[in-house]
Amino acid sequence: MKEKGETVTQNHIKSKLRFASLTIITLSWFFVQNLPTFAPLIFWCLTIAGWVIALVIYSWKGRKAPAFLASNERVLRVFDFIFVLGYIWITGGAAQSPYLILIYLGIASVGLYDEKQVGLLYSLLAVAVLLVYDLSYQRFWAEEWKTSYHVVSHIFMLPLFGIMADLLIAHFRHIKQEERAVLEELVASLAKAIGSKDSYTLGHSTRVQHYAVALGEELGLNQEDMFTLKFGAMLHDIGKIHIPSSLLNKPGRLTKEEWDQLQEHAVEGARIVGSLKKLTGVRDIILYHHEKYDGHGYPRGLKGDEIPFLAAIVNVADSFDAMTTSRTYNKPKTVEEGIAELERCSGTQFHPLAAAAAVSLYKESKWPRFKSVEYAAQHPFVSWDEQPIFSSGRQ
Ligand SMILES: [Fe+2]
Repeated sequence: MKEKGETVTQNHIKSKLRFASLTIITLSWFFVQNLPTFAPLIFWCLTIAGWVIALVIYSWKGRKAPAFLASNERVLRVFDFIFVLGYIWITGGAAQSPYLILIYLGIASVGLYDEKQVGLLYSLLAVAVLLVYDLSYQRFWAEEWKTSYHVVSHIFMLPLFGIMADLLIAHFRHIKQEERAVLEELVASLAKAIGSKDSYTLGHSTRVQHYAVALGEELGLNQEDMFTLKFGAMLHDIGKIHIPSSLLNKPGRLTKEEWDQLQEHAVEGARIVGSLKKLTGVRDIILYHHEKYDGHGYPRGLKGDEIPFLAAIVNVADSFDAMTTSRTYNKPKTVEEGIAELERCSGTQFHPLAAAAAVSLYKESKWPRFKSVEYAAQHPFVSWDEQPIFSSGRQ
């Protein structure tokens, strides 16, 4: 985990270095182009070379090209270099100052640091600054911009702006993904902590995570909510770490005191992750995953839409898994009986939308099924795209 954290920091340092090195390149070329021996042919060759490289990478990697470029520091540097050269070249007759390029680089670099997913806005803002400058220059100093040569070359450069914007966004996403990977490892470590005490809870959490993710996709949740849901489902019972194993595994009915003690796991779990700012949504899922739609749940007795929706989804996933794999009752329900129970208790125990999503997933044969109850406990933390624990047959 430490390694990943360090990578994120290193990325920020790399971005700063990138800005510094580009500034040096920009200023150097600005002075070099004013030398009498300067040959425009060099700019032509470099710009065309940039296009050839872009063409090769985009036709080789296809849709994965921006992600490839963002993670490939050297290629990114080549593009930055060519972009700066190209822009100085096309505005060679007009832009008499390198400060404009520095404004662009400044805005673009801020975009790289930004954590509010507005990389695209920064890129567009940077491009807008350049265009406004050029247009106003053309308007007020038209006589100095006579040749169609500059106009054509300007149009020629426009797609390169697009690539730069694409790169910035991809770079930003790359940083974001690394942050998520750190969170993912943190969640996995916390979940492992329960697993070391109680392997049933670990397997249960893994299955609940798969059910919840399937429900979230069916309900069309956005990516942010999907991550929160995925983590929340995995950690929903983390509070059980403080409950004695004898109570967790006790067959038959619980006494009033034991029941009260067991119920504390929701508040206890929320307390465990409560101090982590990035996991606020996850905390809510943990705290409210036993709330019922009609207000008869715990710990707060919230009702209807007072219950955070992601917690209501985990409630459906959690209850379904408890019904179909219960260790405290003799005969677990079948998948079909479990789905029928979700339908029956829709609007009382379960949020109607979440229950309906489970039913429609089942009808479309998309409801996750597991090879066995034990299998999930032995193979937890499957990555986002892999789904090896699903079986095609009936449970
Ligand atoms: Fe629970």
